[in-house]
Amino acid sequence: MNDRAKLVTIFGGSGFLGRHVVRALARRGYRVRVACRRPDLAFHLQPLGGVGQVMAVQANLRNRASVDRAVAGADHVVNLVGILYETGRQRFPAIQGFGARAVAEAARAAGATLVHVSAIGADADSPSSYARSKAEGERAVRETVPGAVILRPSILFGPGDGFFEKFAGLSTITPVLPLIGGGHTRFQPAYVGDVAEAVARAVEGRAIAGATYELGGPEVMSFRQCMETMLAVIHRRKLLVPVPFFLARWKAAFLGLLPKPLVTVDQVRLLERDNVVSGEAMAAGHTLAGLGIEPTAAAAILPTYLWRFRKEGQFEMPGSMA
Ligand SMILES: NC(=O)c1ccc[n+]([C@@H]2O[C@H](COP(=O)([O-])OP(=O)(O)OC[C@H]3O[C@@H](n4cnc5c(N)ncnc54)[C@H](OP(=O)(O)O)[C@@H]3O)[C@@H](O)[C@H]2O)c1
Repeated sequence: MNDRAKLVTIFGGSGFLGRHVVRALARRGYRVRVACRRPDLAFHLQPLGGVGQVMAVQANLRNRASVDRAVAGADHVVNLVGILYETGRQRFPAIQGFGARAVAEAARAAGATLVHVSAIGADADSPSSYARSKAEGERAVRETVPGAVILRPSILFGPGDGFFEKFAGLSTITPVLPLIGGGHTRFQPAYVGDVAEAVARAVEGRAIAGATYELGGPEVMSFRQCMETMLAVIHRRKLLVPVPFFLARWKAAFLGLLPKPLVTVDQVRLLERDNVVSGEAMAAGHTLAGLGIEPTAAAAILPTYLWRFRKEGQFEMPGSMA
């Protein structure tokens, strides 16, 4: 059978990265089954493919039987599920550790290939529970499906992202922005479309089986540089206030009580380490470039969606008179 007529089950396909992955695979002609907790709310996914090409089914990584059902008959499985903070039964070990194992076991039972999305910083010894559970998920994937391709992105940008958009939104309501840990943490922001393309290429078999890729953009930027770039795009001036890690953790302890916290104690711990592509990944060519993808610069994309946070009166309609 033509590989492109084959069925791909995507866990996490309803999310920020997931939508781009669904589109990238549908464009290639794959049939796409999106496994999500509330398929009734996943109506935004249908237009990403042709008629009947994209379907949503119910699955929860905390329910093994639902994972098996979602994978049954699939040729390829993609796991994009991740959480940034814990709520109720959505705990890091349950979702990113045991959940990753459940998906890997289901893929193995179905004889499907597996692409697993983790994160740069995944580390069993990390002070961050998020990063430890990501490492646990990677270990489970490697043990269960040794040929799986693991993709570890740095922070992602694109419309609806949880970093540049979040801080751009914050800058519309506050005169100051916090530079957690002094703003020195280094990132390598990757465009969500490039990472989705990497996932699609891995599904097509264009990545090295069993390899772990680290996906970063063309520039390494400190937290401060990220904030300055974002503020320049939205034409706002804000006071950037360095906040030492210990103070940020203390503040985050309160913010973390909100239903959708701006930052949690665990995220502050994550910021204590740089989030950039490692020398090992670069030497091995296990990067976006190694997959034949030229990384897109943040400067090319940020203005296309952050413009709505511009200061009132600073937005010019295309073609308007100066
Ligand atoms: N965004 C970034 O900057 C970034 C950076 C590095 C790595 N990553 C990794 O990339 C992946 C995708 O991230 P994202 O930003 O697209 O996240 P997202 O928008 O929050 O999407 C997360 C997805 O996980 C699904 N999900 C959550 N709990 C679930 C459960 N119990 N069972 C089944 N599905 C569940 C959600 O589906 P429903 O809620 O619809 O069920 C949603 O589709 C994650 O693994 C993340 O850790 C992201």
